[in-house]
Amino acid sequence: MNLLVIGSGGREHALAWVLAQSPQVKKIYVAPGNAGTAAIATNLPIPTTDLPALADAAQRLEIDVTVVGPEAPLAQGIVDLFRLRGLPIFGPTKSAAEIETSKAFAKELMLKYGIPCARSQTFSSLPQALDYVKTQQPPIVVKADGLAAGKGAIVCQTREEAATAVDNMLGKHIFGAAGDRVLVEECLTGLEVSLLAFTDGRTVVPLVPACDYKRVGDGDRGPNTGGMGSYSPPGIFGPELVRQAQETILEPAVQALAREGRPYSGVLYSGLMLTPDGIKVLEFNARFGDPETQAILPRLRTDLAEVLLAAVQGRLYDIKVEWTPDACVAVVLASEGYPGDYHTGFPISGLEAVDSDVQVFHAGTSRNQHGDVVTAGGRVLSVAATGAGIAQARKRAYDNVSRIHFQGCHYRRDIALREMGSTQV
Ligand code: AMP
Ligand code: GLY
Repeated sequence: MNLLVIGSGGREHALAWVLAQSPQVKKIYVAPGNAGTAAIATNLPIPTTDLPALADAAQRLEIDVTVVGPEAPLAQGIVDLFRLRGLPIFGPTKSAAEIETSKAFAKELMLKYGIPCARSQTFSSLPQALDYVKTQQPPIVVKADGLAAGKGAIVCQTREEAATAVDNMLGKHIFGAAGDRVLVEECLTGLEVSLLAFTDGRTVVPLVPACDYKRVGDGDRGPNTGGMGSYSPPGIFGPELVRQAQETILEPAVQALAREGRPYSGVLYSGLMLTPDGIKVLEFNARFGDPETQAILPRLRTDLAEVLLAAVQGRLYDIKVEWTPDACVAVVLASEGYPGDYHTGFPISGLEAVDSDVQVFHAGTSRNQHGDVVTAGGRVLSVAATGAGIAQARKRAYDNVSRIHFQGCHYRRDIALREMGSTQV
């Protein structure tokens, strides 16, 4: 098989890395990729949003399956375009991907089909939203309807803060059209888990669960990021809860989308909260998570190429997806200043000193004119290690992190240190 991975982050490097292990795979291309994917695949200098150029490449290179990493090309309809042109692609169509790209749509769907989630109201009128905020008990969550690069959900501690958030979105348009509608939502409490599932639109196969660390600093302090680390499995979310989430959330969501005439195939990502009233949905994404993928895929035993092909061909029922009992911990190394402004172009040293069974997934990296690997983004690398348990995987991840250097490198020291949200070590 020839495969094409679309994207350039740690998630896409992890996808290319695991696909490269498949005996069935002849060639892997990554568009546009990074310095890490260049070492195991062929990078194509095509932006993820240039859909016609991606389709042309898939046709010319006789790609058997294309897999899409980021949400932007899904939102633009890359799957619709590839299908029109008879090119096999793993991912949801534009209308199915609305489960991620419109939080108002996702919420309506959940309400209509009884999928547990936070109570919420959607507004496009600023005065009506402000009136509603006055009637709510803080904390209050305010969310932009559309894609806002992970910054669109704001947990507000007071009504005033919530009113400001609503005004920023509906009045000042800080998120542009993504904030033309806002959701004002009940604040849920509990532990957060990401549970992803492969689906061909009928069969739903959960992956192993993982936890994500969104804040930049230790102890969940500082601004939100794209994710500073991940681990799998979370001890609090065992097989029984996975089964429950499959039955009450993932399968109903896939069935609901089919009923609405938006059959969903690809990976469905559910961001869940384990509340005192049971498991509830915080959000859906229409793709693999980043950095969850870097902590999940090293545990996959089944050939991913086969899973992707089966999903594309609608015969996922044929495949048994198996996992190693190992734990995996992935720590993200970021540029100084991230998630704010940062400089790039700093040489990265120590990559050759990493243990051969520890994976360094590149995100923001490239090669300079001398051929050195240099920083090229906010999140630069993620170091993923497996072990017999979380503690061992964690120790191996951090041992290897300490061998890698670049100017201004920072990372969280508490990934997988304690179960998220709990104080127990
Ligand atoms: P979202 O983009 O909807 O996933 O929201 C981003 C983050 O905001 C989530 O990972 C949660 O930590 C938090 N969040 C979102 N919705 C809620 C909610 N209803 N209650 C509490 N926290 C929330
Ligand atoms: N790690 C969160 C996401 O991929 O959206």
